[in-house]
Amino acid sequence: MFFRTLFRTAVVTALLSLAAASGQEPKLINGYEPKWWKEAVVYQIYPRSFKDSNGDGIGDLPGITSKLDYLQKLGINVIWLSPHFDSPNADNGYDIRDYRKVMKEFGDMADFDTLLAGIKQRRMRLIIDLVVNHTSDEHKWFVESRKSKDNPYRDFYIWQPGHTAPDGTRTPPNNYPSYFSGSAWTLDPKSNEYYLHYFATKQPDLNWADPKVREEVFSLMRFWLDKGVSGFRMDVIPLISKPTGLPDLTPEQLKTPPNAYANGPHLAEYLQEMNRDVLSKYDDMSVGEATGTTLAQTNNLVDDRRHELNMIFNFDAIKLGRSDFGLSQLGAWSLPELKGIYDAHATVLTKHDWDTVFLSNHDNPRIVSTFGDDSPAMRVASAKLFETMILTLPGTPFLYEGDELGMTDFPFKTLADYDDIAVKNAYKALVDTGKISASAFLASQAKVSRDNARTPMQWDSTPQAGFTTGNHPWLAVNPNYKQINAAQEESDPASVLNYMRALIALRAHTLAFVYGDFEDLDPQHPHIFAYTRTLGSEKYLIVENFSSNPLAYTLPNGLKAANLLLSDIPGSHEANVSTLNLAPWESRIYKQ
Ligand code: NOJ
Ligand code: CA
Repeated sequence: MFFRTLFRTAVVTALLSLAAASGQEPKLINGYEPKWWKEAVVYQIYPRSFKDSNGDGIGDLPGITSKLDYLQKLGINVIWLSPHFDSPNADNGYDIRDYRKVMKEFGDMADFDTLLAGIKQRRMRLIIDLVVNHTSDEHKWFVESRKSKDNPYRDFYIWQPGHTAPDGTRTPPNNYPSYFSGSAWTLDPKSNEYYLHYFATKQPDLNWADPKVREEVFSLMRFWLDKGVSGFRMDVIPLISKPTGLPDLTPEQLKTPPNAYANGPHLAEYLQEMNRDVLSKYDDMSVGEATGTTLAQTNNLVDDRRHELNMIFNFDAIKLGRSDFGLSQLGAWSLPELKGIYDAHATVLTKHDWDTVFLSNHDNPRIVSTFGDDSPAMRVASAKLFETMILTLPGTPFLYEGDELGMTDFPFKTLADYDDIAVKNAYKALVDTGKISASAFLASQAKVSRDNARTPMQWDSTPQAGFTTGNHPWLAVNPNYKQINAAQEESDPASVLNYMRALIALRAHTLAFVYGDFEDLDPQHPHIFAYTRTLGSEKYLIVENFSSNPLAYTLPNGLKAANLLLSDIPGSHEANVSTLNLAPWESRIYKQ
């Protein structure tokens, strides 16, 4: 039965793409145009932290290649690789020095080719990070650009004289703050002008208004697509078109600078040009990291009639109770708020748009520690619940390495425990200036820091969790690795890992989870998320208990839960009932 359905899905998709290739109108599924990337499960790898192959303490490409069987067994279809390019690592590879070269710590181009071949051999695909809002200040374009005002590369970046007071004091062109604290402008002594950098001083922003910049970017995209990658995750892509005239932010705008920086007047024009000249020529996927973009603005970027991007990451859910800028605290959040976000997505997005679902990446703390309950008694069930939700809500699911093990936040104590430039800069800006006490700063960072996601993957219970054979991983391994690791979970039928495999397999042969309509049955319930996914005559009911207490839940409108397909609690068996006795953090999937 399983294989028959799997086969049918593959055949349907193949026939549909054949129809599309021959110029016929593609057949729609529930009004959606079928696409491989809509049916995929994406898994993000942060190469520095995944697997070290040579004992230097830094994850690398051969390390990833050695784990491809593990990923294939997990059932994911697409790997998103965070930047693997040559970089001085001011922001761990998000500052690129050479877009056509592999970071030496990660290996070389032959290692990349081997990795890509291994991925394809296993019928998976690879997408890579496209970081083109900014480069490294060590990129040859910037090295040239900063030499003089008349250098041919001067206009590749955004230079301005700023202001000079009568006493000669210089101040920046405007009041833009950087994502990484301080001003977004740095005065460069060589030409005595300021350059713009929304992120670190070592990440100057490219000037997309210059057509030569766009041509360079399109050319490097073709370079990787021609090698066989299947698309891009586009870093902070709504920032590439800058606000006209770069005026000061108003006090209101200063509360959420990303919204003022993003979606400038020429964004659509640049993305349409990129789509026409590059993306449309390949069988690829594109997902934009949409900082500063509201749900209402989403279809401006992803409506398939506009020919820009396929999908974006909207941060409403992942940043619930927190801010997307500056020092964010872990605030309170409620389940009705979280459900309200998904409900709004389902209402606002049309059949021409496509969503993403995710609660983790390399910029956010761990799901189970942030949204769930990472205490020893609740960790496994709550980790499974969030994955159930992510894999059954509308949109392409994006998982982050270690989610499948239920990895947790790290017990950060002192500033020296961190690597992240965002933390170090914020410490200088806030603690060193006396604006906030060191203890308050460290307590809040421990809960929200990006480094929580960046600690090494926990492969087994050997020293350093099997991540490296050396003694010095670039970031410390979580001390809980003896309890939480892939080898242990492999042998435990009730582990998060084995549940994830079953869940991903279920999704792979259930088109209703991909193209089905979504209905939230009980938006106001404080602890239960109950929803259906319906495709034609097929209907699935998903019920999730977001609490560390057992809960008896009666389905609304006389509804009955029919055949239990999957529960995250071993031994759970209730079927054909209208009142469900749910264990703490239990999630169930029923076929109606
Ligand atoms: C977003 C990336 O995800 C983050 O890691 C990085 O620091 C900034 N963009 C700047 O590239
Ligand atoms: Ca290494």
